[in-house]
Amino acid sequence: MSKTLQAIRGMNDILPEQTPTWRYLENTLAELLDGYGYQEIRLPILEFTELFARGIGEGTDVVDKEMYTFLDRNEESLTLRPEGTASCVRAMLEHGLIGGGQVQKLWYAGPMFRYEKPQKGRYRQFHQIGVEVFNLPGPDIDAELIVLTWRLWQKLGLADSVTLQLNSLGSSEARARYRDALVAYLQERYDLLDEDSQRRLTTNPLRILDSKNGGTQALLVDAPTLHDYLDEESVAHFEGLKARLDAVGIRYEINQKLVRGLDYYGRTVFEWVTDKLGAQGTVCAGGRYDGLVSQFGGKPTPGVGFAMGVERLVLLLETLGLVPEELNTPADIYICAFGEPAELAALALAERLRDALPGLRLLVNAAAGSFKSQFKKADKSGARYALILGDDELAKRVVGCKPLRDDSEQQSIAWDALAEHLAARLKRA
Ligand code: HAM
Repeated sequence: MSKTLQAIRGMNDILPEQTPTWRYLENTLAELLDGYGYQEIRLPILEFTELFARGIGEGTDVVDKEMYTFLDRNEESLTLRPEGTASCVRAMLEHGLIGGGQVQKLWYAGPMFRYEKPQKGRYRQFHQIGVEVFNLPGPDIDAELIVLTWRLWQKLGLADSVTLQLNSLGSSEARARYRDALVAYLQERYDLLDEDSQRRLTTNPLRILDSKNGGTQALLVDAPTLHDYLDEESVAHFEGLKARLDAVGIRYEINQKLVRGLDYYGRTVFEWVTDKLGAQGTVCAGGRYDGLVSQFGGKPTPGVGFAMGVERLVLLLETLGLVPEELNTPADIYICAFGEPAELAALALAERLRDALPGLRLLVNAAAGSFKSQFKKADKSGARYALILGDDELAKRVVGCKPLRDDSEQQSIAWDALAEHLAARLKRA
C-alpha cells in the first residue's frame, strides 16, 4: 500500500473550523489599520537570498540556521522569506517610494518560513501581519505603532493577557561601545558561558543577553548595562516614547535585555508578551531600523515597524475562549425545498433574498432529501431560521419560516414580505 501523503513538519493546514477565527483577526486588524491611515502592500514570498543575508544579518539564527534556501533552475540562490521587513524595504527602493523623503505607512500579511524546531506556537510556515513606516524619525510614530496594537488587544479582549516590554538599543555607535564593554566582561568569564553564548561572543554578542541559560543569566547580573552607554539623542527619543505611552495610559516594562533576534534594529525595540501560551509567548514584536535602507544602498531613511504572529494570536483567542460564537456557524438561514418545482422556486427566492439583504448568510439545501434529513442539515448549519418550501407553499406564494434556536411558532410569510420579516428578526438577535 502506498504511504499516506502528509504535510511537511511544522507546516500546517488551516482547516475550515479554524479559518473564521483567522479572518476575524485579520479583518479586525485590517479595519483598524485603515483607521490609522496604513496601506496594504503585497510582497513576493520568494526573494534573492542576498536580501535576507544583508538585511537580517549574517550571524543571526534566522540567516545562519533557519532559512529555506535553494538554487532555482537558473542556478540563482533564492530564499522563502523568513520575515517581511527586508522585502518591504527592497520594494520601497525598487519603486522609488521613499528616496524623496515620502512618508509611507504600510502593512502586509502572509506566510513566512523558518526552519525552527516546531512546537506549540512555533512553526516552520507561520503567518505574520506586519506594519512598516518610512521617513518618520521621531518617537511619535513609535508610540503610534504601540498604541494601535494596544487598541487591537482591547478590541479582541486581550488587553489583560499581554504585557509590553520596551527597550532602547541606542545608536549604532553607542551599541558598538556597549558591545565592546560586554565582550570584554564576558571574555574574562568565557569558561562559565554556555556553548551557544560562547559562539555568540564572536558572532552576535548582544544576543547573549537573552540567553535562556541559567548560568549565563547569573553572569549577566553584574555585566555592563546597555542604558549606561546610550547616546543623548537615543535617550531623548526613548523619553519621548515613554511620555507618549504614559499620556495614553499604556503600561510597559523596561527590559534592558530585550535585544531582538534580527540585526537591523536601533533605538526603540518592543515586544508584546503573554504568559498564557507557554514558551512561545511573544505575540507581536518590532522596533526601529533607521540604518536598514542605507544598508541596501538607499539614502539614509528612518524606518520602524512590527509584526505579529497570527498563529499565536489565534491560539491565545482560543485558549481564552474569546472567539465570538457566531463565527462558528456558517449560516443565518437554511432553505429546505421539497420536489423539483419548489427547488426551482427556492433557488430564485434565495437570490432575491441575497439582493435584498447583503451580507446574509444563506444556505440552500442541495441534493434534495426527506423532510427529516433536510431539517437535520438545517439544524447542523447553525442557522437561526429554516425556510420551508413545498407544493402547498408554492401554490400560495408563501414560505414556512421556522425558528431553529427557540420554541416560537413557525409562521407562514408571503414571498414579498420575506426579506423585511427576516431583516427585523436577524437584527434583533
Ligand atoms: P520577529 O520577532 O522575528 O520579527 O517575528 C515577529 C513575530 O512573528 C513574533 O513575535 C512571533 O509572534 C511571530 N513568529 C516568529 N517566528 C515564528 C514561528 N516560527 N512560528 C510562529 N510565529 C512566529 C520580525 O519578523 C520583524 N520583521 C518584525 C518587524 C517588522 N520589525 C520591524 N518591522
